[in-house]
Formats: sequence, C-alpha cells, structure tokens
Amino acid sequence: MQRLAIVGAQWGDEGKGKVVNYFSKDFEWIVRFSGGANAGHTIYVDGKKYVNHLLPSIQPRSSSRGFLGAGMVIDVEQLINEFETLEADFPDISCRFYIDPEAFAVLPWHKEEDVLLETMRKEPIGTTGRGIGPSYTDKVSREGLKLYTLFDENLLKERLESIYHMKQNIYNNRLTVSPEDMFKYLQRLRGELERLKVNFTSAVDMSRVFRSTSVLFEGAQGVLLDLDFGTYPFVTSGACMAHGVSSVGFSTFELDSVYGVLKAYTTRVGAGPFPTEDFTETGEKIREMGKEYGATTGRPRRVGWLDLPALRYARIRSGLTGFVITKGDVLNGLEEVKVCVAYDVDGVVKEVPSTSYDFFRAKPIYETVKGWPTTDHINFLKYMTFIERETGVEIDYISYGPKTEEMKTRNDLIINI
Ligand code: IMP
Repeated sequence: MQRLAIVGAQWGDEGKGKVVNYFSKDFEWIVRFSGGANAGHTIYVDGKKYVNHLLPSIQPRSSSRGFLGAGMVIDVEQLINEFETLEADFPDISCRFYIDPEAFAVLPWHKEEDVLLETMRKEPIGTTGRGIGPSYTDKVSREGLKLYTLFDENLLKERLESIYHMKQNIYNNRLTVSPEDMFKYLQRLRGELERLKVNFTSAVDMSRVFRSTSVLFEGAQGVLLDLDFGTYPFVTSGACMAHGVSSVGFSTFELDSVYGVLKAYTTRVGAGPFPTEDFTETGEKIREMGKEYGATTGRPRRVGWLDLPALRYARIRSGLTGFVITKGDVLNGLEEVKVCVAYDVDGVVKEVPSTSYDFFRAKPIYETVKGWPTTDHINFLKYMTFIERETGVEIDYISYGPKTEEMKTRNDLIINI
C-alpha cells in the first residue's frame, strides 16, 4: 500500500498512535496534517512508552521520516520538548523530521486566550487549554504567525507587534507577555530548532518525494470532533477527516485506503453530546479497565457503548474504506455488551444522523449482544461481524493490547478461533 490515511472514527482517543506505529514500519513517510498539541499519540518502543502530541508517530527503529503539514498549529516549545525526549534515546532523530514553514505557530498568547475564552463561555467546551482554538482563529482572521516568520527577524518583530496590538484591544490588556519578550522567546526556540537540525521544507518541495514513495497520513482526534462536521460547537478547530490531506497537497482520490480507528466502545473528553454515554457502574468499570484518562490533560474520559449511527456517519463523512478495532480486550468478561443500532431523533428512527444537530437530540436504540472472555472468542468475531454488517465497512485489523505488535488481521483472528 502506497498511501494510507488513518483517522479516528469516533471522538478521538481510539488508539490511533499505536495503530499508526504498527503500520509505520511499512511506510517511508509519516505525515501529520492537522491539529496540534491537543492530540496525544502514545507509542511503545522496546517496551518504553512515549506520548507525542505534535510529532508524527514514526518508528524510531526504522528509517521512516516524519512531516508536519501546513494544516497543523505548532507549539514550538512543546515540539522541542518532544524532540529532546526522543533524542535522549535515539540521538539525531530530529533530523528525520520535516516541518512545512506554512504551518502556524501556537504562541503563549494563544494558551492565555484559550483559558480566558473558556471562562467567558456560558457553556465551556472543555478544551485541552493548548491554545488550539485561538491559533486557528488567528489563522482565519489573518492574525496568525506562520512558522517561516521565525526566520526573518524584522518580519517577526513587525508581526508580533501588530498581533499584540490587536489582541490587547480585544482582551482589554489582559495578555501578560510583551511582544519584546515574545520575540526573545521565539528567537531562543529558533536557535534550538537549528541546533537539533530540524528541516523546514514545504509540501510543494516535497511533492515529488512523497509521490515516489509510501506515505502514511496520521489523523488527529476523530471525525466527530471535526470542525466542520463534528458535534459543533463541541469540536476541535482543525480537520479530523481524511480530506485534511489537502493541506499536504494530496487529494483523497490519491489515497489507496482510509482506515477509521474505532474503539470497541465509545469515549469522549470535554463537553458535548454523547448519545450512548453510560453513567452506571459498568461505565466506571470500563473506564478503569481501559485506563480512560486523557493522554494530554489526564482528565477522566466519559465512557459509553458502541454507537453504530455515529460510525455510519463517520464512514460517509470521511470516506472510510476499512476499520481497525481497538480495545475489544477491555470488555473481556462482560456478560453482555450493548450496541446502539439507531437513534430516535424527535420520534423519527434514524440509522444515520443527517446532520451534526441530530446528535444533540438523539436517544439511543440498543441491541444487546453476548460478551466474550477473550478477543479470540467466537463472540468477539460475531461482534465484529455485526459492526461490519451494520456499517458496510470491513474490520481489517484488530488491536488487542497497547503494544505495537499486539495487532492481528481479521484472518489471524478467524484462524485462531
Ligand atoms: P481543543 O482542541 O483543545 O480546542 O478542545 C476542543 C474539544 O476537543 C474538547 O472537548 C477536547 O477535549 C477535545 N479534544 C481535543 N483534542 C483531543 C484528542 O486528541 N482526543 C480527544 N479529544 C480531544
């Protein structure tokens, strides 16, 4: 497979980092095309855990390289921390990363704004506080800072002054970092990037390279958190669907496959509709068994049952061609497992929500299936077959543990039963 996109099929935290890591050994380039340090992609190398928020999940032990696309918003300080962590175990790994200078920076101002805005909202979104929304807002309102600005001192000073002027007017002088201090801070970070020998290369210059080799596009968050088609306004501010590859100069028609990663149940962090949320002891048990605490914020995740209407919606919105299922093992030992097969939306039964607004009014209609003692059991295969029949998408891979190698194909599963 030459070009594969992997996106979250639910509200994020489906285990994409691990899945990407599994496939990355077969790809030369791993490309992040959207989001920022709000994402938390956990990978294991030689049994050691690494949580990357910005860096594409490349395989340190292979020769693969990572690209951070223009659709991302990049907190440079966080980026350097991630490089340093990897460098400690894999010296010179930073040279294997390339950043599109057209991507936007997340500045300390954006993090201050994120906190201020949440306190001003009547109904907070529950953001990760990483400055993602304000940075994307600045991009759209033409007040953002593109990364190439870091390499032009005069331009950087000019931009910082004009952005600061605007922001202090909007926020009544509540931002605490002066443009002069911001300039010094960014100069220092630029020096660090140069020391680490990180490459700045645009997707335009990479176009031929990408097309002559294999590329894995690593999505962030999940389709239901997508700015355009997620459960707005309880969404993130970036593209969570495969169409986000356009920011790296690709059309979705150029992709061989789009895998949606789905958890065998559903979780969500932050506020917003969650039709299958479970408030009972079983929900709590699943949270503990699945260690459902945010990789970025440590917040307990909300937990609920598998939601087929949401998966059907994700399939259509993001053009999914296959699924990878994760964490079926977390449900091991439950006698029964509930699955939402349709929604009742204002008295009308719907198998697929037509708009994101339907999620706000949906009452789940459940079917109950038999549980499984292990994911090698026939009942788990039946569960998967049920999902496939109901969504029209095959589950090609099964992840049955946090380690990269704990993955099997559908055929492996069938043979073992
Ligand atoms: P923001 O992206 O920090 O602005 O947060 C907006 C919403 O998206 C909040 O509900 C967050 O909890 C959620 N969110 C952002 N990133 C992730 C993620 O990687 N996984 C799950 N939820 C996320």
